[in-house]
Amino acid sequence: MRRKTKFIHGGIVGDPHTGAVSVPIYQVSTYKQEGVGGHKGYEYSRTGNPTRHALEELIKDVEEGYAGFAFGSGMAAITAVMMLFNSGDHVILTDDVYGGTYRVMTKVLNRLGIESAFVDTSDLANIEQHLQPNTKAIYIETPTNPLLKITDLEGAARLAKKYGLLTIVDNTFSTPYWQTPLALGTDIVVHSATKYLGGHSDVVAGLVVVNSEKLATDLHFIQNATGGILGPQDSWLLMRGIKTLGIRMEEHEANTRKIVDFLVNHPAVQKVYYPGLETHPNYEIAKKQMRGFGGMVSFDVGSAEKAEQVLTRVRYFTLAESLGAVESLISLPAKMTHASIPKERRDELGITDGLIRISVGLEDADDLIEDLAQALA
Ligand SMILES: Cc1ncc(COP(=O)(O)O)c(C=O)c1O
Repeated sequence: MRRKTKFIHGGIVGDPHTGAVSVPIYQVSTYKQEGVGGHKGYEYSRTGNPTRHALEELIKDVEEGYAGFAFGSGMAAITAVMMLFNSGDHVILTDDVYGGTYRVMTKVLNRLGIESAFVDTSDLANIEQHLQPNTKAIYIETPTNPLLKITDLEGAARLAKKYGLLTIVDNTFSTPYWQTPLALGTDIVVHSATKYLGGHSDVVAGLVVVNSEKLATDLHFIQNATGGILGPQDSWLLMRGIKTLGIRMEEHEANTRKIVDFLVNHPAVQKVYYPGLETHPNYEIAKKQMRGFGGMVSFDVGSAEKAEQVLTRVRYFTLAESLGAVESLISLPAKMTHASIPKERRDELGITDGLIRISVGLEDADDLIEDLAQALA
């Protein structure tokens, strides 16, 4: 099955009882048992729900994994994955991971004894340098948020295997349409499905796909034990979103390429961050592991004042957190998504006060370019 077809025909399609072409929303918490323990595969909806199961099967298929799991948010999904580790374990993470991932590692999971190190994984030598005897996993975001740095996934997976570590990839920015990390040898994929997978700014959700029976058993145990599951209504909305992922990602990409061309040639823009630019330091790796470069772009206008001007003048770009939706969004990472990272650390990473991040939507690219032109003028 080809990729675009898989988004529509993957997982569980329709309802065999009625012929409905869409999976029904099983708004139910418990299931009748014929005798004690005699059920039809479902006992209680925290453990399993047919609508959530259909979504979990779909994401498993499109990420080419062994099993999928749906959670109430991306952070719930990431936290559940981290629960695979024990007190005293150490995880190496990409340095400019999503601010919430940094926060949960350094303010919550550290209290439970899970140690973390944040390194620039776009250079694999940095990972090897930070390995400790208690390191258990490498957690990678590629492209990163908001600097669009690229890590070589095949290389990282090879390194992880050499040292017996798990490789976990946050695939939120690329989506399985452009990048399939498990096929490159990694072990676990996580998503903020709130973003491109949902695609319409109307659902908060998280997904995980694992590549083995052992990880599936362990993660299902954690999902059921800790309970951060996705409800049936949101599972259904997410399946509806995923059906159009292919066509949406093609359009996001086409619009983004035009906008990147415009930004690169604009005198008020000091730097443009986009993995599809040949000048991007890891362009060759991006080209090798991604089928497309996505709809996220960051650009530096040099100062907080100039950034503020752009943010208040734009008409079609909504000033909002989040990304990956049909409507274009604009944000100032230093004050919004990455405000939970201390300023000294942000400066070290290059997340300056003049750095603007845009999530290019599906409006007409010419309207978006005219909008940015008047805001930058
Ligand atoms: C790359 C990335 N990972 C994880 C998350 C967390 O997901 P959620 O907001 O669905 O909890 C986000 C949210 O912005 C994100 O951008």
